[in-house]
Amino acid sequence: MSEGLLRDGFQRSVEYLRLSVTDRCSLRCDYCMPAGMKFTPNCDMLKFSDFLFLVDIFASLGIRKVRVTGGEPLIRRGILRFLRQLKEIPGIERTVVTTNGLKLYKMAPHLKSAGVAGLNVSLDSLDREKYKKITGVDQISKVISGIDSAIEAGFAPVKVNVVAMKGVNDDEFLKFAELTRDKNIQVRFIEFMPATPSLWSSERFIAVPEIKKHIERLGPLVSADKEKWGGPAEIYKLDGAVGQIGFISAVSRHFCESCNRLRLTSTGQLMTCLFGKGDLDLKKMIDGGADKKTIKQAIRETVFDKNGVRVLPTAAGPGEEKRSMSCVGG
Ligand code: GTP
Ligand code: 5AD
Ligand code: SF4
Repeated sequence: MSEGLLRDGFQRSVEYLRLSVTDRCSLRCDYCMPAGMKFTPNCDMLKFSDFLFLVDIFASLGIRKVRVTGGEPLIRRGILRFLRQLKEIPGIERTVVTTNGLKLYKMAPHLKSAGVAGLNVSLDSLDREKYKKITGVDQISKVISGIDSAIEAGFAPVKVNVVAMKGVNDDEFLKFAELTRDKNIQVRFIEFMPATPSLWSSERFIAVPEIKKHIERLGPLVSADKEKWGGPAEIYKLDGAVGQIGFISAVSRHFCESCNRLRLTSTGQLMTCLFGKGDLDLKKMIDGGADKKTIKQAIRETVFDKNGVRVLPTAAGPGEEKRSMSCVGG
């Protein structure tokens, strides 16, 4: 295997690392977190100092962008200090956060001053009752004011993640799209993925071409440029709109050929694919006293073996909660 920056066995270069810093969340979205989920005890989680140690190694291998997710990352104590420290690691050019938005109304300016470059906020309904039904929590107004606080704090655009679900929120797609007319947000419609098969149903699934057709009732969608650091979303604009509309077609049309990312869970499992299993136990290596060079080599080898194309999980089974979105962070 040649030296140099991280490449997998299919010659894809890997520059983007997603850290799930906790599997806990202040919401209970019915499609995301399995019922009766047992959260990881603190002693089995990576400490922030472990994450920093590992990110430093990843940065030396060419990782440039780090996304902090959860569960809900903003509920972990010390998160702002951690984000500041992440940003200071040589080589890390961009730190971004995916959040459920509940704490943003207070935290948005602090995240900005901690050097966070982008915020993605989950919001699957604009209707109070429906939001409560999906998430188990009657707090939609906090999320909406959180998005406004984030815009005010200078996040541009704030990305709003809408998991598209037939019979759940398909009657709100137009309302979500209309929000982009005068708000600097990027509303992203995400295909519902069978990450946890027991929580997924084909009846709820709606594919991007159908969502797009629906939204085109508002007018033509004009293709917009992807941002330099943009992920898998395809970006469009309604004529004259301030914001943008994105589509993430993770099921109907995968984007694995350009996959440039790795995931590290709160228990230290390195995952080379969202739908994979833990491929390398980095917590075990740290706890066993492995040095940087050994860890670096183990990461290289694991990345080299990354799958070419994802294999979607098809059947519910033991251990699926460990691979749920609430553990892996999307
Ligand atoms: P940007 O970097 O801002 O473009 O964000 P992102 O879309 O990569 O991240 P975010 O955390 O907002 O995720 C939005 C949705 O995209 C989630 O449902 C993720 O699971 C999904 N997603 C992100 N990356 C991948 C990927 O590599 N593969 C698949 N299948 N889905 C992904
Ligand atoms: N399919 C698609 N997106 C999902 N998310 C959580 N579970 C799923 C799923 N099964 C989204 C969250 C969050 C992002 C990180 O992943 O809503 O916005
Ligand atoms: Fe990468 Fe797996 Fe997502 Fe495909 S499904 S883009 S391989 S993380």
